Amino acid sequence: MRFSFTPARMPDTSVFRPGLLDGQVALVTGGGTGIGYGIAELLAGLGAHVVIASRKPEHLEQAAGQLRAAGGAVSTVAVDVRDPERVRAMVEQVTNERGRIDLLVNNAAGNFYAPSESLSPNAWKSVVEIDLYGTFFCSQAVVPVMKQQGGGRIVSISMTLHYRGWPQMAHATAAKAGVDALTRTLAVEWAPYGIRINAIAPGPIPTEGVRKAFTPPADSGIPDVFAAADEAMARYARKAIPLGRWGAPRDIANMVAFLASPAGDWITGAIMVVDGGEWLSKAGA
Ligand code: HXC
Repeated sequence: MRFSFTPARMPDTSVFRPGLLDGQVALVTGGGTGIGYGIAELLAGLGAHVVIASRKPEHLEQAAGQLRAAGGAVSTVAVDVRDPERVRAMVEQVTNERGRIDLLVNNAAGNFYAPSESLSPNAWKSVVEIDLYGTFFCSQAVVPVMKQQGGGRIVSISMTLHYRGWPQMAHATAAKAGVDALTRTLAVEWAPYGIRINAIAPGPIPTEGVRKAFTPPADSGIPDVFAAADEAMARYARKAIPLGRWGAPRDIANMVAFLASPAGDWITGAIMVVDGGEWLSKAGA
């Protein structure tokens, strides 16, 4: 369904009330591409000022350009979430420019298939530092701001692959299990500050990043579901995902918006699985 478009606001094609996040500031790490971009797009569409953070300037420029062209209020900041000093500087910059941070979305992630027995220490470190350390550093950095303004929300993007064993993803599964633990612990610890902290575990969403990270090495014996043509991919989804389709960034963005809104006011420490039933259907397999 299409709603009316005014240059001051992104076209609102969402199920949420227009202006739901008016006046709010949302910081989305890894917001330049894939799921992060989808989240930024919806939050901007609902009236938030969105700050996109990324390591890659080309991602920042392109994403911000597209969102602004559609009427979104967007700014950008370059950061490597592995570096606590740069993370602190990012939060300082956003606070100086925008005055507050209502929502932090820890979305930046990195991963690739690699056999655990030969994973180099630096390869292990790179993924764990982006996915787990980055989530902690960003969460810790926004606390003083959220505390001072009387509350806030943090949503971290996790995954479902660590609910079972997932060969050749030891670094990412270990890191995301850590993100889940962090979510629960920080939710209890920072609840007195009025900060709600939740995670979302997305199912398979064939973004470019996922296709790149999840294309298994040719000799791994792991089926490459993303190699198929569109119709074959759709057929695979109908068979492998109980709700019969691949996910889209908007599916995850909808959950972020819900958790960010007053509808989520009594939800903290939760890991919301948004996966069309995918992991449950494999749980006994
Ligand atoms: C083995 C690899 C490797 C690979 C990198 N390394 N790629 N090892 N197989 N395919 C090793 C390198 O050799 C190096 O170790 C170490 O990892 C660091 O590599 P760099 O390229 O220097 O690291 P860096 O530039 O910091 O990049 C980090 C990264 C990269 C994680 C390696 O892939 C990245 O930035 N990715 C971000 C984008 C991304 O992956 N998005 C996917 C999100 S999808 P040595 O020992 O040689 O120094 C997602 C979906 C999950 O999260 C949900 C699914 C359902």
